Amino acid sequence: MLQSSRYRRFIAGLAVVGVFSFNICDAVAQSAPTPPMGWNPWNAFRTEVDEARIMANAQALMDTGLADAGYRYANIDDGWWLRRDPDGEIRIRASIFPSAAMPDGSTSLRPFVDRVHAMGLKTGLYTDIGRNNCAQHWDRDSPNLPEGNQREREVGTMGYQAQDARLFFSDWNLDYVKVDACGLADYGPAFAGVRDGTYRKLAPLIDRRNAANSEAPIVEALYAGFAREVRRFSPEALLEICAWGEADSGNWAGRYGNLWRTSPDIRGTWEAMLANFDSAAPRSLFAGPGHWNHPDMLEVGNGVFGPADLVEARAHMSMWAVIAAPLILGVDLTKVAPEIIDILGNRDVLAISQDPAGHQGVVLAQSAKGTVIARPLAEPGRKAVALINRTDEPLVLGVDVSHLHFDPAAGVDVRDVWRAEGRHVAGGRIEAQLAAHETVLLLVSGQPAEPRVMFPADMPARFDVAESGILPAAPGLRKIWVPARIGYLPSGAPIEVNGQRDFAALGVGSGSRLRFALDGEFRRLATLPVGAGRYAIYGDGKLVHAAGAEDAQPVQIDVAGLQTLDFVAPATRLEADTFVWSGFRLER
Ligand code: GLA
Repeated sequence: MLQSSRYRRFIAGLAVVGVFSFNICDAVAQSAPTPPMGWNPWNAFRTEVDEARIMANAQALMDTGLADAGYRYANIDDGWWLRRDPDGEIRIRASIFPSAAMPDGSTSLRPFVDRVHAMGLKTGLYTDIGRNNCAQHWDRDSPNLPEGNQREREVGTMGYQAQDARLFFSDWNLDYVKVDACGLADYGPAFAGVRDGTYRKLAPLIDRRNAANSEAPIVEALYAGFAREVRRFSPEALLEICAWGEADSGNWAGRYGNLWRTSPDIRGTWEAMLANFDSAAPRSLFAGPGHWNHPDMLEVGNGVFGPADLVEARAHMSMWAVIAAPLILGVDLTKVAPEIIDILGNRDVLAISQDPAGHQGVVLAQSAKGTVIARPLAEPGRKAVALINRTDEPLVLGVDVSHLHFDPAAGVDVRDVWRAEGRHVAGGRIEAQLAAHETVLLLVSGQPAEPRVMFPADMPARFDVAESGILPAAPGLRKIWVPARIGYLPSGAPIEVNGQRDFAALGVGSGSRLRFALDGEFRRLATLPVGAGRYAIYGDGKLVHAAGAEDAQPVQIDVAGLQTLDFVAPATRLEADTFVWSGFRLER
């Protein structure tokens, strides 16, 4: 794909991504130290949105106490544009955003932003990385589509990255931008709006049906360019990359964005919620302070997660909290039931979501029936554990205390967060009887089984998947492929050694590079590399160990004083080849 002529032509006109990516990473890390929390109108209103509705929901954030609980962004989604003027400036649809109409005939979002800021809240806007937006394709009957001639309807950032970033962040003083990608996916020759001349054709750079057909390097370069402009005008702004996991965005978006979508749009159904959850849950090694996997906005309060379905509403909330997903509310807060507010504002659940260590929970067990996830918390000896019943029937789920790396002999203290009940578990296994669709969210406190040893699942945020390696071409496999996982191969198969699950293994793709932030804290690394070909380990950028994995020799390396370790898996060039850093442990 790197060789395609389209790519070569395009890349010639772009800055070299690598040169500035380090600065961008620094900026990314300053914002969103914990998963962002706020409200967005899309799930409740689609494009039927206006200033009054957004202000009423901002006020409701204050009145319900949800702002105090941490939900601080009241954002705008699709529907706000009127057109792009010939001088490139964007005009706002003042008929629905009346405060945007300026006395001189121009428009500005500044009065709206100032009002939201005066309430003590922050606010963000929606745009697209292509020329056109999503509603122009998917909501063609909306009364709130951009107007004018073909060029005036091109309200996306393509060709206007610097101008739009200046407008949004310097002139309008926004705090957040969500950057969609329909402009790169939906304006091919087959689209009726292109055929009838309403919109200009753009050879799709994203192919939703065949991931390997997307022009990932071009999509990445476009987002990198816009991120650079955004950081120039506002280093602390939040940037959301909304490419739904397409164009391998889940593998690179963390370099430029604070949050990035991992899946198509959520809906208010059980199946859609689970599918979105599953798109982010295996990606613990990609998340951490400043950068978060985003399985989409919450449907808590909507659809099958409403006041009549509190089991499902709590399950949805628990799942997003345990995987450190952003909590962007999608319910109309002016009409929401008090029971739903209680769920959204539950302080114990939010303490898990916003835990300062910023680790995303790690999947320990996964089947069609249930999922078990454990999230290490900042307080030593504490983990949040979610037992998730995916089915319509009651189910018993559990986890061995030893799989949490706690000492079974000492027992553990377990607190059920939703039931607000505690108990001591002595038998070495925590179990719960779950109702249909129920998630039990537990806070587990125990004695580390090996106090001087850290396993990958104790510190996923300290890993960075610096290179994703060779990705499979088969469309189905490419969609589910996670280039680095704990306890699983990139394909999703659990890692077993001699018939036993290896919870301390890192399963990676061929040619991948995984970086670990040692920060001088550790003395020794031990692992058994399993796979084919020559692998290498670098300490602070210098080669410290290289060997052929066929030898199956355990590796022990003195890492005292080192800041980083890089694990480079052999690039065997075989599609979908994998490599395992088995029994991975770092000793203090
Ligand atoms: C896309 C995004 C949604 C929403 C709509 C707006 O589908 O994924 O979250 O922003 O566009 O049109």
